[in-house]
Amino acid sequence: MIDWHINSWKKFIINQQPDWLKQKRYKDNIKIISSFPPLVFPEECDTLKNLLAKAQNGEMFLLQGGDCAERFNDFTSAKIKNKLKILLQMSAVISYGTKKKIIKVGRMAGQYAKPRTLKYEKSGSKRLPVYRGDAVNDTTLDSKSRKPNPDRLIQSYHYAAATLNHLRAFTHSGLAEINKINTWNLENIKKTKSIKNYNKIVESISSTLSTLDSKAFSKMKLTDFFTSHEALLLDYEQALTRENTDSKSWYNCSAHLLWIGNRTRNIDSAHVEFLSGVSNPIAVKIGPNISEDEVLDLSLKLNPTNEPGKLLFIIRMGYEKIDLHLPKIIKKIMRHRRKILWVSDPMHGNTIVTNQGIKTRHFEDILKELTSFIKIHKELNTIPGGVHIELTSDDVTECLGGTTKKIEPTNLNEKYETACDPRLNNDQSLELAFLLNKLLK
Ligand code: PEP
Ligand code: CO
Repeated sequence: MIDWHINSWKKFIINQQPDWLKQKRYKDNIKIISSFPPLVFPEECDTLKNLLAKAQNGEMFLLQGGDCAERFNDFTSAKIKNKLKILLQMSAVISYGTKKKIIKVGRMAGQYAKPRTLKYEKSGSKRLPVYRGDAVNDTTLDSKSRKPNPDRLIQSYHYAAATLNHLRAFTHSGLAEINKINTWNLENIKKTKSIKNYNKIVESISSTLSTLDSKAFSKMKLTDFFTSHEALLLDYEQALTRENTDSKSWYNCSAHLLWIGNRTRNIDSAHVEFLSGVSNPIAVKIGPNISEDEVLDLSLKLNPTNEPGKLLFIIRMGYEKIDLHLPKIIKKIMRHRRKILWVSDPMHGNTIVTNQGIKTRHFEDILKELTSFIKIHKELNTIPGGVHIELTSDDVTECLGGTTKKIEPTNLNEKYETACDPRLNNDQSLELAFLLNKLLK
C-alpha cells in the first residue's frame, strides 16, 4: 500500500488475463471506458462498508448471490427482477429467523469475467480458447465466438450500467419494501413444502408490520441493494477506478464490493496489489490450499489499518476439508487481532463432474459445508457473518438434491443453462435460506 499507485499492479504477476489479439483496439477501448461515468459512488461503497462492519459484530448478516457468470442475453426486465426477488425472499426468510437485518449484495451488474483452470477446450479436432465470461468472448463453440473481443469490454460497461439502473429503479420504486413481500409471488413453484413455510413467514411478517408504528416500519425497508463482481480484468477495473477528490482516496467505481478469486489471490499477484489501494470493501476467496501465514499476509496487505467492514474472507474449502483448515486460519487471524468478516461460499469447493461429464454440486454437500462453517465459528466464539451463493430464480436443473423437487443425476440435462458453474434454482435457494435459519439459531 505504501508504494501503491494506480499502475503499480503492472509490476506484479498478472494471471488469468485473456489473449487480446487486437491490441490497438483493446487499448483504445480501455481509454474510452476511462472516460465513462462511474457506475457507483464512493459514498455508497462507504455505506456498504459500514453495514459490513455491523455484520462483523454480529448485528447484521450478509447475503451475496447471483449467477456464476452473468450473461448479456439475460438482460431483460423479468430476469433482473426475478434475481432481485429471490435475494429479497431469502433475505426476508433469514431476517425473520435470525432477527438480523440482511445486507443484500448481488453478483450482478458486472459479473462478466471468469477465471478458468484450462486455457483451451476441444471441439472435434479443433482447440478453441475457453469461455472467459461475456466481457471477453461467447460460449458458442466456434473459433469466431471464442476469440477474445475487446469490444465486449465496452458492452460490459453498458450492460452493467443498464442493469444497475434497472436495479435502482426496482428498489427505489418499492419492490424491495417489506410490506410488498406478499406480492413477490412465486411463479415457478406452487404449493411445495418450503413455500407453505414461506407463506407462514410472510403472514407473520405482515401481521407484525400492521402493529408497528410508521417509524419502526420505515426502518424495516429493504431498499439497500449493492453490486459486486470478481475484479479479474484489471485494465477494465483500473479504467473505472477514480480518485475521490474530497478524501484523496481511490474507489473502484465498477461495483460496490469487489472480490479476488481463489486463483488470483497470491500475495504477489497483480490482483491483490491493485485492490490493496482502493477504498471499497474487498473480499478474497479462500480455498483449502492456503496457509495460515498467507491469510495473515493478505489481511495485512489488503487492510493495513484494520478498518472494520473493509475485508471479507469468503471461505470455499469444500465440506470434506473445511474442518481441517478453517479453524487454524481463524485462530491465526484472531491471535493477530485482524478484523475480518467471515463469509461462507459453500459452492465452489463442492463442484463435482458426473460420469456423463456434467459439472454439478450436491445440495447436501453445500449444506454440509455451511453447517461446518457455522459450527466452527460457534466453537471458536467468532462470528459467521454471511453467505455467498451461486443461484438463479429460474427452475434450472444444475445442482443435485433439494427436497421440494429433488434433482437426480438423470434430471441434470433437462434445464442445464449456466454458462459456467451450476447454480441453485429457486426452490433450492429458498430451502437453503430456511435451513440457514436453523443453523444460525
Ligand atoms: C466464482 O465465484 O465463480 C469463482 C470462480 O470462485 P473461486 O475463485 O472461489 O473459485
Ligand atoms: Co462460480
